[in-house]
Amino acid sequence: MALRVGVIGGGQLARMMVPAALELGIDIRVLAEGPAMSAGIAATAEGDYHDAGTVLAFARDVDVVTFDHEHVPQDVLRALVDAGVPVRPGPEPLAVAQDKITMRRRLSELGLPVPDWAAVHDQDELRAFLDDHGGRAVVKTARGGYDGKGVRVVSDASGADDWFTAIAEAGGGQALLVEELVPFTRELAQSVARRPSGEVVAWPLVETVQQDGVCAEVLAPAPDSAGRIADLTESIAVRIAEELGVTGVLAVELFQTADERILINELAMRPHNTGHWTIDGATTSQFEQHLRAVLDLPLGATGMHAPSAVMINVLGGPADGDLAARYPGALAAFPEAKYHFYGKAPRPGRKIGHVTVVGDDVDDVVYRARAAAAHFDD
Ligand SMILES: Nc1ncnc2c1ncn2[C@@H]1O[C@H](COP(=O)(O)OP(=O)(O)O)[C@@H](O)[C@H]1O
Ligand SMILES: [Mg+2]
Repeated sequence: MALRVGVIGGGQLARMMVPAALELGIDIRVLAEGPAMSAGIAATAEGDYHDAGTVLAFARDVDVVTFDHEHVPQDVLRALVDAGVPVRPGPEPLAVAQDKITMRRRLSELGLPVPDWAAVHDQDELRAFLDDHGGRAVVKTARGGYDGKGVRVVSDASGADDWFTAIAEAGGGQALLVEELVPFTRELAQSVARRPSGEVVAWPLVETVQQDGVCAEVLAPAPDSAGRIADLTESIAVRIAEELGVTGVLAVELFQTADERILINELAMRPHNTGHWTIDGATTSQFEQHLRAVLDLPLGATGMHAPSAVMINVLGGPADGDLAARYPGALAAFPEAKYHFYGKAPRPGRKIGHVTVVGDDVDDVVYRARAAAAHFDD
């Protein structure tokens, strides 16, 4: 009988697990939030992942449950575990990924390098942090942020009043995360995968470029990172995976500073945008690896097909919304580029697809990947 994986969440990450599942002969099922989700092609159920009954019913027919996002509430995760369903990653590691304050606290406890941070409940606490950090800092909502939503640079204690009001109204004594504004020279990401039985593998370290808080470009491997930096980031990611008991893919977002320090930004416990290049650029993609890992199957090789791989996100898409009209020109201009679209309608700022080019020379690969992706801009 085929191995059966159930994925909660019907976004593009679930969608990109589908080809890998087909190739391996894995029966993949998706609990989608509604119709017309990215992973609708594999959706066997539609429903609200906040509802334990819905999720338990979905999980009845699979061997393991995994995720397209980290937002499934802890009580629902616990209900799955209590019902004997293997949940990977499990509720404990996921609790760390679900809340940026918990994340900072756990990483600090482990002695891992993070920016200076504090949990703040009101203007006075934020003012105290600003006073200690040169008058500028980054404030983040602890939960629910993505693509830079929920991240704000503030230089005045009143700069997060709307968020303080929102958490006060929500009740439950929530806080905001405030952290030093890191003067990074670049951002990096290190992905690893870990099986329940302990095997861990790492992909090459990548450099990531964010625009307005959204990932725009990824260069694999990160230029000028062989040796100390790559060894350090791999050891950090492996240590996090092992200490937190992560199963599946773990992506660690990092800052590199002018004085060559590495600081951890945040963690994702699932395939991640910074690993999309692995579909076309590595022996084993992050999506295949995630399926292998959550099923506790031996992990695949993570080496690259060529010295360089560059992934460019298609953000927004054509203003006229007509994606299909751009295909002939793009595909003809760059036959070597690999185009991926997520079945999402163009909308300003939205991640609707990505383009990867693989080759020998990083400058040439960057140029071709950018030019290929630009065919889908307005
Ligand atoms: N402490 C910081 N100092 C400087 N820049 C930051 C800091 N935290 C976040 N950023 C910038 O904001 C981006 C988004 O922040 P992040 O915490 O990763 O939020 P998200 O969950 O939206 O990805 C980062 O990739 C980085 O460019
Ligand atoms: Mg981030």
